[in-house]
Amino acid sequence: MTAERRAPKLRIEGLTKRFARGGEPPLVVLDGLDFAIRNLEFVAIVGPSGCGKSTLLRIIDGLEAADAGAVYIDSAPVCGPGAGRAMVFQSFDLFPWRTALDNIAFGLEMLPMPAAERLRISRHYLELVGLHGFERSYPHQLSGGMQQRVGIARALATRPDVLLMDEPFGALDVQTRDLLQDEMLRIFEAEAKTIVFVTHSIEEAIYLADRIIVLSARPARIGMDIRVPFPRPRRENIKGHPDFVAIRWQIWNKLKGGDAGADDQPR
Ligand SMILES: Nc1ncnc2c1ncn2[C@@H]1O[C@H](COP(=O)(O)OP(=O)(O)O)[C@@H](O)[C@H]1O
Ligand SMILES: [Mg+2]
Repeated sequence: MTAERRAPKLRIEGLTKRFARGGEPPLVVLDGLDFAIRNLEFVAIVGPSGCGKSTLLRIIDGLEAADAGAVYIDSAPVCGPGAGRAMVFQSFDLFPWRTALDNIAFGLEMLPMPAAERLRISRHYLELVGLHGFERSYPHQLSGGMQQRVGIARALATRPDVLLMDEPFGALDVQTRDLLQDEMLRIFEAEAKTIVFVTHSIEEAIYLADRIIVLSARPARIGMDIRVPFPRPRRENIKGHPDFVAIRWQIWNKLKGGDAGADDQPR
């Protein structure tokens, strides 16, 4: 393993975020959060609703400023949105007046490149996410799962090193969600990316990630940091593996606020 691969890709140091609340004391969402993510690591973040997961991703993306602390990518502080990072949102956030292909091309329009090159890259990612034949469809003509495929292709098209995903499958039905999870595994195999993936599904986190960070209730602190022991490529049958079940139980119990030992596991 080279030194470059060992160096953290992303470092969160003393990250603090407060929101003003009129006359009330400010709402402390993040309070001195510290962690690091390796290059090409797939990290899932789970935590109670409202604990600050989206805020954390927005700060990593540079969409929001921290009150204290910093985010470093390749040792350089993040000061605003920039190349090298891309976000996928739960709400897809596609432009309704643009076709699937033109939505994917959107992020590339800010970059200096000939139109033919932009088209070539956009088509490549449209096909990578399985949307061949839907180039000219508008978002309202696509199912939720297809719209999120466009959202993923749009993020990938800018060829970010760091992909930030905020509950990307949270608005989809269970079957579509399962399909997109497998798609995500395939994409992670094909594209070398560092991924930070927020989800409220413990199963999804274990199935997809190399490591899971469990955040506490607000202000978010690291409650658990678990390595997922399954090799890649992942197979669906790991969901029945005793280690999968044990990790799911451990996380669920942590989120519930309990502190069960291994002996407390349901059999
Ligand atoms: N722009 C904002 N202004 C004020 N409060 C906010 C803002 N964004 C988020 N919050 C509050 O910060 C807390 C954390 O929000 P968020 O990061 O969206 O949580 P999560 O994604 O974990 O559900 C919530 O209580 C939310 O209401
Ligand atoms: Mg959120």
